[in-house]
Amino acid sequence: MAAELKLEFAPVALPSTGVLVLFCEQGLKFGSATRTLLKATGELVTRAAAADRFEGKNGSALDLIAPAGLGVSRLVVIGAGKVRDLKSRDFVKLGGVAMGKIPALAAQATIVADLPGAIRPDRVADMALGVQLRAYAFDRYKTKRKEGEERAKEVKITIACAGAGTARKAYASRAAVARGVVLTRDLVNEPANVLFPVEFARRAGELKKLGVTVEIFDVAAMKKLGMNALLGVGQGSQHDSRMVIMRWNGGKRDDKPVAFIGKGVCFDTGGVSIKPAAGMEDMKGDMAGAACVVGLLHTLAARKAKVNAVGAVGLVENAVDGRAQRPGDIVTTMSGQTIEIINTDAEGRLVLADVLHYVNKRFKPKFMVDLATLTGAILVALGQEMAALFCNDEHLAKLIETASEQTDELVWRMPLHERYDANIQSRFADMKNVGGRWGGGINAAKILQKFVDDCKWAHLDICGVAFGVKDTEICKSWGTGWGVRLLDKFIQSLEVK
Ligand code: BES
Ligand code: MN
Ligand code: ZN
Repeated sequence: MAAELKLEFAPVALPSTGVLVLFCEQGLKFGSATRTLLKATGELVTRAAAADRFEGKNGSALDLIAPAGLGVSRLVVIGAGKVRDLKSRDFVKLGGVAMGKIPALAAQATIVADLPGAIRPDRVADMALGVQLRAYAFDRYKTKRKEGEERAKEVKITIACAGAGTARKAYASRAAVARGVVLTRDLVNEPANVLFPVEFARRAGELKKLGVTVEIFDVAAMKKLGMNALLGVGQGSQHDSRMVIMRWNGGKRDDKPVAFIGKGVCFDTGGVSIKPAAGMEDMKGDMAGAACVVGLLHTLAARKAKVNAVGAVGLVENAVDGRAQRPGDIVTTMSGQTIEIINTDAEGRLVLADVLHYVNKRFKPKFMVDLATLTGAILVALGQEMAALFCNDEHLAKLIETASEQTDELVWRMPLHERYDANIQSRFADMKNVGGRWGGGINAAKILQKFVDDCKWAHLDICGVAFGVKDTEICKSWGTGWGVRLLDKFIQSLEVK
């Protein structure tokens, strides 16, 4: 976190200092609490709005120096568009827009969460979530600040609203979501010389403080289990591989768990089938799936979700030395199925093959959902706007699509037709690890499917959305933390109320 954010909820009152942020509906219509505050500013806002042609379109802003006589230094009015159309996800965004209008040097700001017809306390809490997410910055390795980049050490944000007590309560679960997203972003942003498998596992171990059971499997333990596909990927690295199993048991005793499985390639050089140099630095983010699983488990535990959840991450570095896996090698997976390695850069599916099988066999989950920065092909297909959703169960797909719609973390369904199986047939083994030039994202998903048996399963290829996307209202970070909000919503839909 760039600056420490202190978020408070309080009844609406005119602040004596700092930045004041207000909202209006399209047509420059204000809520009644806001109108009362505006009396102190005379005609300023209406005149400035007319001069700037500011009408209150959603996401637009009118940024003013506060007139003499007013305690606050700056007055910002943010347009909310048509209030009737606003959904939970829009309030999250508005919170992000509001935070974006608070200058980095300001130590204090008041955001008046009020619109015509007032704002429900849970929507105020959504706004606060957006404020938190927007405030995040990964700057722990910046030892110097350029002029104009200075920030306040501590920022106090007061969300002024009706029903402040209720909003504060509603915010508790959103704060857990924000912390999960921040944890995921931190892990994705961290460079691979700092965050290698052992260190990643150590950080996952910190979830114990929240009541999560954490088991860490070292190389010997995985050898014993027969996880040769995962171990083959990591064998060319100086850094030992790990698997971490996390369990949050907030549901009924004998409720089957929902399992989340993440690809945790802490760095992907491509191995012997080495990647081109240009852009390879991005491959420090090839553990974004695993980072999402850790962030999600943090959120579920922090908000004491009424669900039994398993998080499982396969942690390796895909590096290249004299012991590295070669093209042509054949590995026997934990499931007993064999895979011929054609391209050592198609490593994520090898890691997931063993972890998916392990989780299914041990936990017999109700659902398995995996996340992986798996294929560049999905980036080509869907761009940076949506993740690919592959799913072998209509009900599960619907649940994820609904959560996607609610959180704006978008997914697009892709096929798992059996006709694609022909692409991954191997001359020597049960399958090969690549399926040719076309449909690369689908071929990869078809390989994963061979390791989930008849478990209801969804695969999210998050290649395009996990890092390096353009800034949004609620994310200015390279690592986006994509998936934590989506899957938390998905879990909410399963929780017994
Ligand atoms: N980690 C990469 C995929 C990737 C590419 C993630 C760009 C994020 C941004 C994955 O391990 C990989 O290298 N996939 C190959 C598979 C190919 C060799 C069949 C790819 O997509 O090129
Ligand atoms: Mn790769
Ligand atoms: Zn990879």
